[in-house]
Amino acid sequence: MTTPSPLPGHPHIAYRDDALCIESLPLADLAREHGTPLYVYSKASMLSALAAYQRGFAGRKVQICYAMKANSSLAVLQLFAQKGCGFDIVSGGELQRVLAAGGDPRKIIFSGVGKTRAEMREALATGIGCFNVESESELDVLSEVAVAMGTRAPISIRVNPNVDPKTHPYISTGLKGNKFGVAHERTLQAYQHAASLPGLQVVGIDFHIGSQITDDTPYLDATDRLLDLVQAIEGAGIPLHHLDFGGGLGINYNGDTPPEADALWAKLLAKLDARGYGDRQFMIEPGRSLVGNAGVCLTEVLYVKPGEQKNFCIVDAAMNDLPRPAMYQAFHAIVPLQAGGNAAAQEQIYDVVGPVCESGDWIGRDRALAVQPGDQLAVLSAGAYCSAMGSNYNTRARPAEVLVDGSASHLIRSRETVTDLFRCEQLVKA
Ligand code: LLP
Repeated sequence: MTTPSPLPGHPHIAYRDDALCIESLPLADLAREHGTPLYVYSKASMLSALAAYQRGFAGRKVQICYAMKANSSLAVLQLFAQKGCGFDIVSGGELQRVLAAGGDPRKIIFSGVGKTRAEMREALATGIGCFNVESESELDVLSEVAVAMGTRAPISIRVNPNVDPKTHPYISTGLKGNKFGVAHERTLQAYQHAASLPGLQVVGIDFHIGSQITDDTPYLDATDRLLDLVQAIEGAGIPLHHLDFGGGLGINYNGDTPPEADALWAKLLAKLDARGYGDRQFMIEPGRSLVGNAGVCLTEVLYVKPGEQKNFCIVDAAMNDLPRPAMYQAFHAIVPLQAGGNAAAQEQIYDVVGPVCESGDWIGRDRALAVQPGDQLAVLSAGAYCSAMGSNYNTRARPAEVLVDGSASHLIRSRETVTDLFRCEQLVKA
């Protein structure tokens, strides 16, 4: 048997004897057993990503709140809950998922610009740890809701620090033109207002500047700006129990070189120590960096279609399963399950596309592949923002999901059936 060499950025995905494996299992076996498209996740990969954060914070007071929007499958939440994580949620639906997965309500923080009164009530009744409030009007509404329930809502205000995370415009959130957070210049006033409201209890401050950040400078700049505010807010007599640095750390999709979580935190903690804040309670909200490179989406080649300008490789996964290329022109590596591809096929440059009736339904452009119909491919880096952002467009049932742990595999989501899709619909009675 040849020594397996993991794919770059994917420590638990490697060719063994020419068969692409996740942990100890050949992906082709899982495709045979469960069909395609199929999402497959590595438990070891999720745990080692989490361990990098835990190492980075060793000896500090920290609560890691997994940003579950990245991948909200119950078994994934269960895994992080068992390891002591809390959760960053953005809807009442996500709250119910955390509870169904056995998460601790006190370790939940509730982010998002548009919380409804009903969601606020539900979260207060559950006893969540903190509301990350994103506007001054939200402070008023939350206070009103809490007073009506005879309680006080623990809050943090999300500051928009106006730093450029240098990422795709759709996933940068901490610039002045973004809808997120309270402007840096208004933050002190907003805290004074919060402290005066009867239904609120100020507990912290937070920022989240964007996603898929591959450079540590924006974090360091935003931290400096946050600490200036902490000084001003506490100087005005409003103590802050915790400091929350959001999420956003990127992963390697296409030769990207983001810092490791522990290296990033060594730098940030040095700054916090230097400014005298190193012994505070910290919170972080990582999503993609915990799950992104733990997952692949397996797909089968249906047709190869040579063209005058382009060759198309038509596969059974589509933009409804892997929406990131269509939404952000995102790059996902696509590799054959058999090393080198199909020996009987000639390598060609293909656009890899799905069956959905949209020209935007592409998964990869200009990829060199040696494939024939019936071959299987793995779309890499599919653990974050793929299944969770999936849809049923073209009445396509969502794929199944499998969690691999060493040489064991667990079906964690069954493939949807078409009748599941129209379960809530009814014909008009004649
Ligand atoms: N905290 C807050 C308040 C957030 O808005 C987000 C992500 C996170 C934490 C987690 O960020 P992460 O560590 O995953 O970067 N669908 C896009 C990404 C959208 C991110 C939205 N907010 C994509 O596929 O690239």
